[in-house]
Amino acid sequence: MKRNDAPRLADAADAPEVGRLLHDFNTEFGTPSPGAVVLSERLATLLASESMFAILAGSPAFAVALVSVRPNVWYAGRVGLLDELFVHPSRRSEGTGAAILEFLHGHALTVSIDAIEINVDEGDVDAQRFYERNGYSSIEPDTNERAFYYFQELRPPS
Ligand SMILES: CC(C)(COP(=O)(O)OP(=O)(O)OC[C@H]1O[C@@H](n2cnc3c(N)ncnc32)[C@H](O)[C@@H]1OP(=O)(O)O)[C@@H](O)C(=O)NCCC(=O)NCCS
Repeated sequence: MKRNDAPRLADAADAPEVGRLLHDFNTEFGTPSPGAVVLSERLATLLASESMFAILAGSPAFAVALVSVRPNVWYAGRVGLLDELFVHPSRRSEGTGAAILEFLHGHALTVSIDAIEINVDEGDVDAQRFYERNGYSSIEPDTNERAFYYFQELRPPS
């Protein structure tokens, strides 16, 4: 990795770059996106708050991580959810993803984040191998059981 590609913390002024990369992420995988401009507007507010931060690599940026932060009663500090991690296809397998995770772990400790959570699709075995190589596990250490992620999108009654 080139020296000026080292991961760095984004600030609110980086919202357009973060939004552009998140839009590229969804476009690559055929997932709906409200568009880079709308994402950028939302991120300008979110990145200025304590509830979310982003990490960028490259100038112009070619990789991004987005982390939302929340309290959790089982930890003295807080828990970070790695909402998104994306490296542009032309720059994959150069170690950027691992470098971003390493940066994330260092930064998290400085802002009292005690654990990082990640949701990965069952079929995405490449991402599973990548996360496991970087210290993550889908097995609950206390019970040795696989953890599942449940969700439900809520809509107001029509
Ligand atoms: C997963 C991802 C962030 C890794 O970034 P990276 O800079 O390529 O990571 P590194 O160079 O540190 O490590 C490369 C490893 O990532 C794995 N990887 C995971 N998903 C991959 C993908 N879609 N394309 C290429 N490599 C991928 C590679 O298999 C490689 O491991 P291997 O050498 O055992 O094959 C990147 O591949 C990516 O953006 N993928 C698409 C988005 C994605 O799947 N994000 C995670 C969603 S949970």
